Amino acid sequence: MSQRAEIFEVSPRDGLQNEARMIPAAEKIALVDALSAAGFRRIEVASFVSPKWVPQMADGADVLAGIRRAPGVRYAALTPNLRGCEGARAAQADEVAIFASASEGFSKANLNATIAESLARFGPVVDAAKADGMPVRGYVSCVTDCPFDGAVAPSDVARVVAALREFGCYEVSLGDTIGRGTPDAVDAMLAIVTGEMEAAQLAGHFHDTSGRALENVDVALARGVRVFDAAVGGLGGCPYAPGASGNVATEALLAHLTAAGYETGLDAGAVAAAGMMAKGMRDGG
Ligand code: HMG
Ligand code: MG
Repeated sequence: MSQRAEIFEVSPRDGLQNEARMIPAAEKIALVDALSAAGFRRIEVASFVSPKWVPQMADGADVLAGIRRAPGVRYAALTPNLRGCEGARAAQADEVAIFASASEGFSKANLNATIAESLARFGPVVDAAKADGMPVRGYVSCVTDCPFDGAVAPSDVARVVAALREFGCYEVSLGDTIGRGTPDAVDAMLAIVTGEMEAAQLAGHFHDTSGRALENVDVALARGVRVFDAAVGGLGGCPYAPGASGNVATEALLAHLTAAGYETGLDAGAVAAAGMMAKGMRDGG
């Protein structure tokens, strides 16, 4: 019997947040609808962050209002603070994600806060989400390398993972934000982090800047991780992480997982069609 693995699709958020062009909500909605038809169980469709910081994501409420919600699919939103959580709730996101960094340099650049300050902000987000019955996912960025501070110690990652676990995050996604992680570094990080949170509650979020994302997926699979974030068309990057390029492409990850004998429940043809749509959006619509 084949084993299951899940791809958490992040292109409408992590992909489109990094595009120079302001993409109209109607195009984002079409992409999310195409993804819903491909069989994803979870899709990150928006972020409710400061529009001064990420103008590309300012229309998250319009996107959530316009999509056709497929039964059984959870539509997620990134929320940096209570205001963001309230926006996500009003727009009827099914779950929210809080996002911290393992390195101080990126925390400051991305959230204008130290790691401790960012975690303090997340407390009210988690309380509000829980009061509303919304699941909370956690992200840790820069799990091996930071564009500002260089190499990141696994113990620094583990500390933030433990804090997110204490908040009750149902899953923590480990971000190689700038795609500089080597398989050895990812393995060393996972060896320590799985001491704080079991692999079944962890996800891999590999950017493919150095072309090593699939190798890092293999390392994570060997450690028991079965959820991977990816973006159709290989879109992606963070505007506050210099040098970061696309997320691992969903099409490539799907082929890789399938070849390794994992069942994902995805329709490869529909994934490819969504990928073509995403690439067209990147190229100017
Ligand atoms: P700040 O400037 O320190 O805080 O930003 P502020 O409270 O002074 O807010 C600035 C302005 O934004 C104010 O407006 C606020 O009202 C407004 P003004 O008074 O100047 O008119 N504001 C908001 N507006 C809408 N929704 C909100 C919100 N909050 C404040 N929720 C802040 C602090 C956290 C807001 C800012 O740093 C921010 O928004 N950062 C988010 C950056 C971001 O979205 N980065 C990309 C996502 S993370 C990522 O890609 C990594 C990931 O993929 C994993 C990986 O790859 O590693 C997840
Ligand atoms: Mg990312």
